Amino acid sequence: MTLLVTGGAGFIGSNFIRYWLEKYPEDDIINLDALTYAGNLASLKDVEQSSRYSFIQGNILDADLVGDLVEKADKIVHFAAESHNDRAILDPGIFIETNIKGTFTLLEAAKKYNKHFHHISTDEVFGHLELGTDDAFSETTPYAPRSPYSASKAGSDHIVRAYHETYGLPITITNCSNNFGPYQHPEKFIPRMITDIIDGGTVKIYGDGLYVRDWLYVLDHCRAIDAVLSKGKNGETYLVGGMTSDVSNKDIALKVLEIMGVSEDKIAYVADRPGHDRRYAVDWTKIHNELGWQPEHSFEEWLKETVAWYQNHESWWRPLKERAESIYTK
Ligand code: NAD
Ligand code: DAU
Repeated sequence: MTLLVTGGAGFIGSNFIRYWLEKYPEDDIINLDALTYAGNLASLKDVEQSSRYSFIQGNILDADLVGDLVEKADKIVHFAAESHNDRAILDPGIFIETNIKGTFTLLEAAKKYNKHFHHISTDEVFGHLELGTDDAFSETTPYAPRSPYSASKAGSDHIVRAYHETYGLPITITNCSNNFGPYQHPEKFIPRMITDIIDGGTVKIYGDGLYVRDWLYVLDHCRAIDAVLSKGKNGETYLVGGMTSDVSNKDIALKVLEIMGVSEDKIAYVADRPGHDRRYAVDWTKIHNELGWQPEHSFEEWLKETVAWYQNHESWWRPLKERAESIYTK
């Protein structure tokens, strides 16, 4: 089988390509990535020599290129997106272009060649939850995005589903929670914290720090996509979440400081993110019951591994760090 992976030079896409090439020695992967600020071929150094892997630098909005690549593939796994909320607040236009129009361009090609389209989406499309409740998002939760990023992802989900209902395109969708692990850009919360501490700086906590995410180790996400590609039902959505229960950003900062042997006075409370979603939690019963998936990497242990990975891979993140910080001084 040949998979066309979009956005494979990003955080989750690069982890997925490595996972897939190792697990399925008969399969080939074509990686289509525009190499925006978030795309980094250094994340794929160890696979670039493989005869089963090819990289094409190009934009998912380029209909001709996309058509040629989709024709060659058996399935499309669509990661490419603008993914950072803080950037979407500063400059939402590119999120609409890439996440909505880019997905549409790919769907047109998938329809033309009748190829299975797997869409990677986010739990943020469901809005946010109250603190101190047991509520969790499920596949039946109504869409209620609250930020330009999540609205653009919600738009893309709707179009994917519309192509299934209207044109009979074979599709699956996964909506997952916050990923963490190696190769995540240092503009995101956990790597930003770790790299700031390595640099002797402070850990920046937005607002009161009592915001909650449902942290998922990136390899568990790759396993979930694998389960859906292998056994998922055409037309279905599956939610994917982690093992944490209501760990606040402040608690995570304290854990990271402890792991790195740094005192709590390195915490700096900074201005809150406008429209900051309070809490996400994912009920992953459906993918567990129907496809046998569940997260296997505990947050506590893999947070330590992630800290160690950044401590040992400064040459990977250092060139990205300055650029990551530049958005916070705009
Ligand atoms: P990322 O920002 O690390 O990577 C995105 C990749 O897409 C980059 O390699 C970039 O160069 C590429 N890209 C951007 N615009 C493109 C375009 N127009 N054409 C071709 N390539 C383009 O993102 P990520 O964190 O790896 O997220 C991957 C996907 O998973 C996204 O769709 C995101 O919405 C979704 N998601 C992410 C998380 C998370 O916690 N990171 C959680 C849920 C869902
Ligand atoms: O829920 C899934 C989503 O998770 C994905 O769809 C997005 O692509 C991904 O970026 C992530 O979105 P968040 O906005 O939740 O991730 P981020 O790492 O930016 O922030 C995580 C939490 O930490 C959030 O509550 C904001 C807070 N934060 C973030 C940064 C960068 C801080 O307190 N300080 C920071 O410096």
